[in-house]
Amino acid sequence: MSRPVPIRLRIALAAAVAALLALALLLIPRDSAPPATADNPNDAIEARIDDWLSRMTLQQKLGQLQQLDADFPSGRLRDDQLQLVREGRLGSTLNGRGAAATNAAQRVALEESSLRIPLLFSFDVIHGYRTVFPVPLGEASSWDPAAAELSASIAAQEARAAGVAWTFAPMVDVTRDPRWGRIVEGAGEDSYLGSVFSAARVHGFQGDDYSRPDRVAATAKHWVAYGGTEAGRDYNTVDVSDRRLREFYFPPFRAAVDAGVATFMTSFNEVNGVPATANPYVLRDVLRREWGFDGPVVSDYTAIRELIIHGVAADDADAAQLAVNAGTDIEMVSRTIAENGERLVAEGKLSEATIDEAVRHVLRLKYRLGLFDRPYVDASREAAVLSDPQHRREARRIAGRSMVLLKNDGGALPLSRDLRKVALVGPLADSQVDMMGTWIGDGKESDVVTIRDGLEQVYGSRNVRYAQGCDAPCRSSGGFGNALAAVRSSQAAVVVLGEPWDWSGEASARSRIDLPGKQEQLLKAIAATGKPYVVVLMNGRPLTIDWAARHAPAIVEAWYPGSEAGNAVADVLTGKVDPGGKLPVTFPRSTGQIPIHYDEKPTGRPFDPANKYTSKYLDVDNTPLYPFGFGLSYTRFALSDLSVSPGTIDADGSVSVSATVRNVGRRAGDEVVQLYLRDRVASVTRPVRSLRGFSRVTLQPGASQRVTFRLDRDDLALLDASGRSVVEPGAFTVWVSNSSVGGLEASFTVE
Ligand code: NOJ
Repeated sequence: MSRPVPIRLRIALAAAVAALLALALLLIPRDSAPPATADNPNDAIEARIDDWLSRMTLQQKLGQLQQLDADFPSGRLRDDQLQLVREGRLGSTLNGRGAAATNAAQRVALEESSLRIPLLFSFDVIHGYRTVFPVPLGEASSWDPAAAELSASIAAQEARAAGVAWTFAPMVDVTRDPRWGRIVEGAGEDSYLGSVFSAARVHGFQGDDYSRPDRVAATAKHWVAYGGTEAGRDYNTVDVSDRRLREFYFPPFRAAVDAGVATFMTSFNEVNGVPATANPYVLRDVLRREWGFDGPVVSDYTAIRELIIHGVAADDADAAQLAVNAGTDIEMVSRTIAENGERLVAEGKLSEATIDEAVRHVLRLKYRLGLFDRPYVDASREAAVLSDPQHRREARRIAGRSMVLLKNDGGALPLSRDLRKVALVGPLADSQVDMMGTWIGDGKESDVVTIRDGLEQVYGSRNVRYAQGCDAPCRSSGGFGNALAAVRSSQAAVVVLGEPWDWSGEASARSRIDLPGKQEQLLKAIAATGKPYVVVLMNGRPLTIDWAARHAPAIVEAWYPGSEAGNAVADVLTGKVDPGGKLPVTFPRSTGQIPIHYDEKPTGRPFDPANKYTSKYLDVDNTPLYPFGFGLSYTRFALSDLSVSPGTIDADGSVSVSATVRNVGRRAGDEVVQLYLRDRVASVTRPVRSLRGFSRVTLQPGASQRVTFRLDRDDLALLDASGRSVVEPGAFTVWVSNSSVGGLEASFTVE
């Protein structure tokens, strides 16, 4: 039997417990600042961050700067990572995903750690999360920014429903080197087109408020000039003038900032001797001071530790110090900051104020994402969002809009829907994984409609004779016999050629960009049968396909169309959809022409085939195989009635340029009307033409539309020799055209 505790002792005990509780509450950091209100949301967020910073230990602050790679297939955090979460030493993860896995990890952050700052889950949602859309280079071929915005918004819905709040996209690197495998992840060779797609994708991912349950924070990557990698080899050296940075590499990033992009990622490469991850010029001077960017900058994967291999840091501590002082906030995967930060502060090599600034960027992102208010996702929504049939319908539509008709002699396409026997040949025709290209998010191979599936839907499975011919690398011609037999016994053949999905993307540079292995041999053998055939290309970069360009009756560039590939290809081949896309990148005749791009400088000796002493090759023409902006349609269009008004403006004025586009063929179709500009005489050399506007229109046969563009200061300005942005007086030429070659031409003058 226990004795009753005297009342005075009980009161004393209760008081002691209450005092201890009060002390504990004071010691545990918590979000105690005033809540955000409608009129001061930003001020309230900053006040809350101040509050956090005043309570966090240095180790907890360093924890917010650490990002680790969760287990990829499962999307779950590993036990050692969960332990770091408990200890307040992990701020974010990549590859952690799925409502159950992210909620479980979040619960550890919020219930088992003393810190109680929510975890942030990031992932490479590049062209779709579960529903896979065309690769970004393909989608840019649509010249339809609304399509890119929509696909990004669907990707955001799916990703956020699965607990992912932050995507490492859009990749807005421009490049003139198709040997570089990562060309597939961007919008091609042009800075203007790249800027339009950059803004569209940022809007698509983020909307106006990325705290919403159907939006994610976007990342402009890779900052910067990654596409200038020497020889097209991934991760290689970049040496680039400030003019080239500002005129060519920066604009798509600037467009992302203007669109409100939440985060930036550094690039692996050096920029003029200083690796981008430790480069104060690009990170602090340009991004923070000039552009006023206030979100976090994440390093690329282990890029901070790689500063040692670059040869600019002696050891991990040195690498951490260089990166943080230069302005990189979050360390992806390597742990140099977390492991050395305290010592660096003690030694005065890193100030706590600099660390606080980096932590502020991270916490700001977490607040803007609404993670403090809604840290968990509603797991009951996930399955329905990921399997929403509307997403697949849009994937099919956007894939159709992304295809480019490169050739169509004698109306070889569209194929009649009445064919009774169609041969389908080629290594990629029935390969689910190859339909999606690189970076497929959480896409599932088994969900993919192949070209074989798509054609069988149209013609019936008994009428489609499929034979692979060879696998994608096509080293053996052993299967050619079967393929030729299928072609000979059919009325027409569809030949699907190109690169396997992993021949472009990260770490996938090629020194020759032709069709792999014996694929061209297979094509020649099919041509020799005398049967009608058409070629469908699937690839992540321009290819040198000189023979096919000269001999194949028709070529459709399909890129990697995504989950709905087969249906979209069948839509285009059978004319249900008019292929209205245009190339966002030049196709060279030979690899030796690289870098080749439409907006070259005139030089003092421009190409003249009749004059040896001009800028040209002895063994190949200067012209591309297919120029930037090029693409045919099943119908024909005519441009007319170009007008430019006014004819003379002052330096701050603007010009309106209009032309009429008419469908002069017999089918409905799409045309992309393009506006190019040239400053005729300036204090510095200017490109022979620069894209400054475009509009994709759909027209019924006989219908016409007036298309109007506006050119203003931003379009006319150049950087003078001292780096100032000026509009110089003189004549400008404009072209309205359907590719970067030719077009209607007019001029105006700046006084
Ligand atoms: C390395 C790639 O360069 C980058 O684009 C990607 O976001 C990260 N890995 C994370 O997967």
